[in-house]
Amino acid sequence: MVRSLALLALIACTGADTDDTETGETAETGETGETGETGDSGDTAVERAACTLFDPPEVDSKYALPAVLSETGCVDPNDPWQLVDSVLPYDINVPFWSDNAVKTRFVAIPNGGKITVLEDGDLDFPVGTTLIKNFTLQGVKIETRLFIKHDASSWGGYSYRWNDTETDANLLTMGEERDVNGQIWGYPTRSECGFCHGAAAGGALGPEIGQLNMDYAYTDGTMNQISKWQSLGWFAADPGAPAGLDVFTDPWDATADLDARARSYLHVNCAQCHRPGGASHLPMDWRIDAPLDSATCDAIPNNNGGITDARILKPMDPDNSLIYVRPNDTGWRMPPTGSKIVHTEGVALIGEWINSITSCPSN
Ligand code: HEC
Ligand code: HEC
Repeated sequence: MVRSLALLALIACTGADTDDTETGETAETGETGETGETGDSGDTAVERAACTLFDPPEVDSKYALPAVLSETGCVDPNDPWQLVDSVLPYDINVPFWSDNAVKTRFVAIPNGGKITVLEDGDLDFPVGTTLIKNFTLQGVKIETRLFIKHDASSWGGYSYRWNDTETDANLLTMGEERDVNGQIWGYPTRSECGFCHGAAAGGALGPEIGQLNMDYAYTDGTMNQISKWQSLGWFAADPGAPAGLDVFTDPWDATADLDARARSYLHVNCAQCHRPGGASHLPMDWRIDAPLDSATCDAIPNNNGGITDARILKPMDPDNSLIYVRPNDTGWRMPPTGSKIVHTEGVALIGEWINSITSCPSN
């Protein structure tokens, strides 16, 4: 097994990769040791990741992953696209735009590990939790990503690139690009994982109450995902009946409230970086519950890119609103990583939303 490279190149979401000049990732303060975070089991350092075969970590070391996906213990060695039984599939209400890639998601929780639901609906997972995402592009299996909680404050992200015959996938230690039937797919570097999956966003991005609150067709029947996780004993405290919990609005539901649709879209596609402490290092906060305030509405941008009257968001004026202009541009692009193709529907939704805002809220 090739372990040394994996160890060297490992990047968790704590910003510990000091040699990383490319991302300008936020180094969180106060993460130099155990945080005493509640909800994680105390004996964390010696626990294994939930579905993986690698060595138990020593203090201050991270897991090294097998060179091929089939050896991770998370998948069927004879058919590595299939997950082992201890890994539960899940879905989310609002996916991140990934250039039309089709993504399926899975979670493995270590035995006895408990998830704490935070006040904003985000989930704090037990150490050893392994989140997995499979990607196909144009029907071709291209990538499997693993995101593993190593200790109370850091996760590690790993990408496996599927081979051309779609029989197994190889661990990447660097980013690369691949031509899939004429479409260029970018495999992110490990630093890029931490750029989006940063500490300010709690590492894991999709699993939060408003995202998970939906039915899933499990092999043993359809059930609300939060009820299912509760029935498996995964929550430290019962989150309550799904009907009383948040559900993120479907951005493409034309009958739903436009503001809710746009805010849901921005939360998933932008707010992992555009939130306090996020990798943008900017004052805007686009999390779903944050008020539209003067950091965004009528705010003068740092860089107007030559649009003299530009604002971050200018009511009823998308063309002078960088929150519309930048995701609609391939060069000056937002998000800066994670996709290469403009999300036409997403940009149109933001434009429609801006047109519906007649003035900035006074605050
Ligand atoms: C451009 C931003 C971005 C980058 C870069 C990125 N991710 Fe993600 N990732 C997301 C978002 C947003 C979600 C949740 C929404 C979704 O799944 O569509 C997500 C979801 C995931 C999930 C499912 C669990 C979760 O946190 O929601 C895994 C596993 C994952 N990513 C692994 C990785 C790994 C490994 C890398 C680096 C090789 C990486 N990601 C790079 C944005 C990103
Ligand atoms: C992976 C992190 C990341 C994601 C995701 C992301 N951004 Fe950004 N954004 C940045 C960074 C870093 C900057 C500052 C550098 C720059 O302007 O290019 C920035 C700057 C901006 C600015 C300019 C602010 C100014 O004052 O000049 C706008 C507008 C913006 N982003 C919009 C968006 C929108 C809209 C989305 C979602 C569709 C998005 N961003 C997603 C990281 C991100």
